[in-house]
Amino acid sequence: VDPVVVAVDGPAAAGKGTLARRLARELGLPYLDTGLLYRAVARRVLLAGGLPTDPGAAEAAARGLDLADLDRPDLRGAEVDQGASQVAAQPAVRAALLDFQRDFAARKGGVMDGRDIGTVVCPDARVKLFVTASPEARARRRWLERAGRGEVVVLEEVAAEMALRDARDAARDVAPMRPAEDALLLDTTEMDAEAAFREAWTLVQARL
Ligand code: C5P
Repeated sequence: VDPVVVAVDGPAAAGKGTLARRLARELGLPYLDTGLLYRAVARRVLLAGGLPTDPGAAEAAARGLDLADLDRPDLRGAEVDQGASQVAAQPAVRAALLDFQRDFAARKGGVMDGRDIGTVVCPDARVKLFVTASPEARARRRWLERAGRGEVVVLEEVAAEMALRDARDAARDVAPMRPAEDALLLDTTEMDAEAAFREAWTLVQARL
């Protein structure tokens, strides 16, 4: 039998990461945060003094990506957020990262968190969740996360940056963020992490 793949897609700060990590632990599956791949590409471009919107620089960074790049401490800043979504809009970058993601899923299965897992990377995933929350709830979560790290952040700025990134991710021509036709929608606006997990667990169990 094919290894079990659970796709967890959705916009920024909807609670995908926390949920996907816990699902992976409970199901005994590997976890892959695919956003880290795009973040690492953007970080490489920025460190080399390039622009994430430059296709040549972005493709070279994607082809030269190394697994150690996924463990860097500086992948969660505001500049990398935008840069990741800029490199992610480029077909050559997505093509360069596709095999790694598919190989990961094919080896032992996994819970994969991203934007296009259910639609493009693993269209045959056993379970597809599309996790959302209101823009206000998501901005507040991201703001709390950043403030908790000691960053000086303004809620309105976090909200504006997130709206820009989500719009770019949803509007791009290649692998835009959208729920797969057979995705199960999970709106976590009124849920804490525990409630979101319980809801997701029920949905996942029904499909396994
Ligand atoms: O999930 P995270 O916010 O870390 O992703 C960073 C960016 O990487 C997203 O805004 C999106 O542009 C891109 N991404 C993507 N496809 C994925 C995962 C992330 O395009 N599967």
